[in-house]
Amino acid sequence: MSQRTLVLLKPDAVRRGLIGEIVGRIESKADWRIAALELRTLDRPTLEQHYAEHEGRPFYEPLMEFMASGPSVVMLVEGERVIEGVRTLAGPTDPIAATPGSIRGDFGTIVRENLIHASDSEESAERETKIFFPGFA
Ligand code: TYD
Ligand code: MG
Repeated sequence: MSQRTLVLLKPDAVRRGLIGEIVGRIESKADWRIAALELRTLDRPTLEQHYAEHEGRPFYEPLMEFMASGPSVVMLVEGERVIEGVRTLAGPTDPIAATPGSIRGDFGTIVRENLIHASDSEESAERETKIFFPGFA
């Protein structure tokens, strides 16, 4: 089942020089392709749309500030079961709970700076693709 997912390498990943490491893990998976990739500093309106489901939660404001604190890599990845697949590569939200071998498990310690975002469902992938790559077919 070929799918497309929206992936962000967050400002901590870019600052720490982990773009190559993380993109490499994604690119190495059989039959997955990078369909779009850009370095972009995310603005508040874009982040409000992206994280709308979390508005009002205690971590929301610090998350928004962190996500706007420097450039992110914004990308679309296509391929076989890629939505679940990138979530598996990323590991769970809390990097300390994430298994070593996953991106968050290998490189993260604190929940907010957990290196990577990946769409969590087909509906999220479609919604998030429109936010970051409007007009992408
Ligand atoms: P969430 O959608 O729950 O996690 P995921 O990125 O795994 O889909 O939360 C979005 C981001 O918000 C998460 O990646 C990091 C941040 N966050 C916090 O800073 N503190 C928290 O307690 C939670 C749940 C998330
Ligand atoms: Mg989420």
